[in-house]
Amino acid sequence: MINYLYILASLSLFHTALGAVAAAPGAQNGTDASSVHLVDRDIFGEQVVSVNATNKELFALQLPDSSHTDIDKSKTFDSTRVWHSNGSTANGGYTLAQGFFNTSATSKEGGRKNAGFVQLSGCINLDKAPQLNPSDKGGFYRDSRPSVGQNANFEGSRCEGYKHFVECVQPSNGQFILRCCNDEEDCPAPSGSQKCSDVLNGSYGACAEAKA
Ligand SMILES: *[C@@H]1O[C@H](CO)[C@@H](O)[C@H](O)[C@H]1NC(C)=O
Ligand SMILES: *[C@@H]1O[C@H](CO)[C@@H](O)[C@H](O)[C@H]1NC(C)=O
Ligand SMILES: *[C@@H]1O[C@H](CO)[C@@H](O)[C@H](O)[C@H]1NC(C)=O
Ligand SMILES: *[C@@H]1O[C@H](CO)[C@@H](O)[C@H](O)[C@H]1NC(C)=O
Ligand SMILES: *[C@@H]1O[C@H](CO)[C@@H](O)[C@H](O)[C@H]1NC(C)=O
Repeated sequence: MINYLYILASLSLFHTALGAVAAAPGAQNGTDASSVHLVDRDIFGEQVVSVNATNKELFALQLPDSSHTDIDKSKTFDSTRVWHSNGSTANGGYTLAQGFFNTSATSKEGGRKNAGFVQLSGCINLDKAPQLNPSDKGGFYRDSRPSVGQNANFEGSRCEGYKHFVECVQPSNGQFILRCCNDEEDCPAPSGSQKCSDVLNGSYGACAEAKA
C-alpha cells in the first residue's frame, strides 16, 4: 500500500513538473478542432480522451487496461488507460481493434446553456472488445474535477479541448458514449439501473433499445 501511494505521488509530481510544458489545454469550447492533439500522454500521468466531431473514426477513450475487466473494478484499482481509434496516428498509443463499434456517430451541440459539447456514441461490438466483460452492466468514467473527487480516475483524466467529460460504458447492453462538455450539467452520469441513453441522448444504433 505504501509503495502504491508513493507511485501515485511520484506520478502526480512528475505530472506537475512536465504537464505544464507538455500538455497545454486546447480551446475551451472545442471550436478549434485542429488544436486537438491525439497524443498518448499516459507517460505524464494523464489520461486524455478526445473526440473529433467531424471524423467519427478518430478518437481516444478510456477503458480497462487488461482483458475482461469490469468498468467499476477498473476504477477501483486505477487500472484504466487511453485507447486510440484504429488508424489514429498517435505516437506509442494503444489502439483498439478495427470495428470496435458496430455503429457510431459524433455530434456537436450547444447544450443547456450553450457552453458547447461534443460526443461520440455507439454500439460496441463485443467481439472486438477484449478489454470488456460482456456480462458487466458497466459504469462510467469522468474527468478528475474536484467535485467528484476520488470517484474519477487519475488526477490527470480530462478531455482535450473541454473542461469535463463523462464516458458511459455498458457492455451488457452494448451502449457507449463519450461526451466532452464545458458545463458540468451537460455531462450527467447514469445512476442505479439507468442506461447510458437514459441520461445522455445520442445515437446508439442497434443498442438503443437494449434493456438496462
Ligand atoms: C478531425 O477530422 C477532420 C476530418 O477528417 C480532419 O481534417 C482533422 O485533421 C481531424 N483533426 C484532428 C486533430 O485529427
Ligand atoms: C487497424 O486495423 C487493421 C486491421 O485490423 C490493422 O491491420 C492495422 O494495423 C490497424 N492499425 C492500427 C494503427 O492499429
Ligand atoms: C460553443 O459551441 C457551441 C456549439 O458549437 C456554440 O453553439 C456556442 O455558441 C459556443 N459558445 C461560445 C461561448 O463560443
Ligand atoms: C452490435 O453489437 C451488439 C452487441 O454489442 C449486438 O447486440 C448487435 O446485434 C450488433 N449489431 C450489428 C448490426 O452487428
Ligand atoms: C436527442 O433527442 C432529440 C429528441 O429527443 C432528437 O431529435 C435528437 O436527434 C437526439 N440527438 C441525438 C444525437 O441522437
